[in-house]
Amino acid sequence: MSTKTASSLPTVHELIRNRWSPRSFSEKPVSLEDLATILDAGRWAASSYNEQPWRFIVAAKENAADFQKLLGLLVPFNQAWAKSAAALMLIVAKKTFSHNNTPNGYALHDAGAALATMALQATALGLHMHGMAGFDHDRARTELGIPDDFAIAAFAALGYLGSPDQLPEGARQQEIAPRTRKPLAELAFAAAWQAPLPLS
Ligand SMILES: Cc1cc2nc3c(=O)[nH]c(=O)nc-3n(C[C@H](O)[C@H](O)[C@H](O)COP(=O)(O)O)c2cc1C
Repeated sequence: MSTKTASSLPTVHELIRNRWSPRSFSEKPVSLEDLATILDAGRWAASSYNEQPWRFIVAAKENAADFQKLLGLLVPFNQAWAKSAAALMLIVAKKTFSHNNTPNGYALHDAGAALATMALQATALGLHMHGMAGFDHDRARTELGIPDDFAIAAFAALGYLGSPDQLPEGARQQEIAPRTRKPLAELAFAAAWQAPLPLS
């Protein structure tokens, strides 16, 4: 098993350092209690106007027909590894505010916050979550009956870590490679675009 702790500042919380997106999952199922805990963590993400625009469409592997239905929406590359996940999930976001029916420009932003929150909760439970954009959005809408007022956000695979050896060679190399990020200086500025932000 590989742990891929982020080479972040050591002061970053270990939950954040230890979250990563594997493609190898073990056969261990996720308990209903853990699934409920993860979804409930997502429910408690922050959102614009507390709209909570996210909706989660979930299938655990034991529910074989539903799991295959979700799996079949993924692009072949993602299907190849995500089939070993314990559960699959599609996150969608309500595009309008419920209090006045105006467009919610933050719906997808907030759905992403829910995904990030669930991924951290999964890490805390010894599980891993892996977001996916590689799926057929149109088929997802039609086959899952998603109303027009909901934007398709992202898929996620959930499960316990498996051995990288179960992956094809290219993916195996990626699975064990260190995680990388842009330097903070490229991402965080003082009060003008790209102005250096002194942090020490
Ligand atoms: C919205 C979103 C979409 C993604 N789409 C895919 C995907 O379709 N297939 C895949 O293998 N990984 C996908 N990823 C995983 C990213 O490649 C991964 O999060 C990134 O390389 C950083 O790695 P880490 O999560 O292990 O830190 C996606 C992640 C997110 C958040």
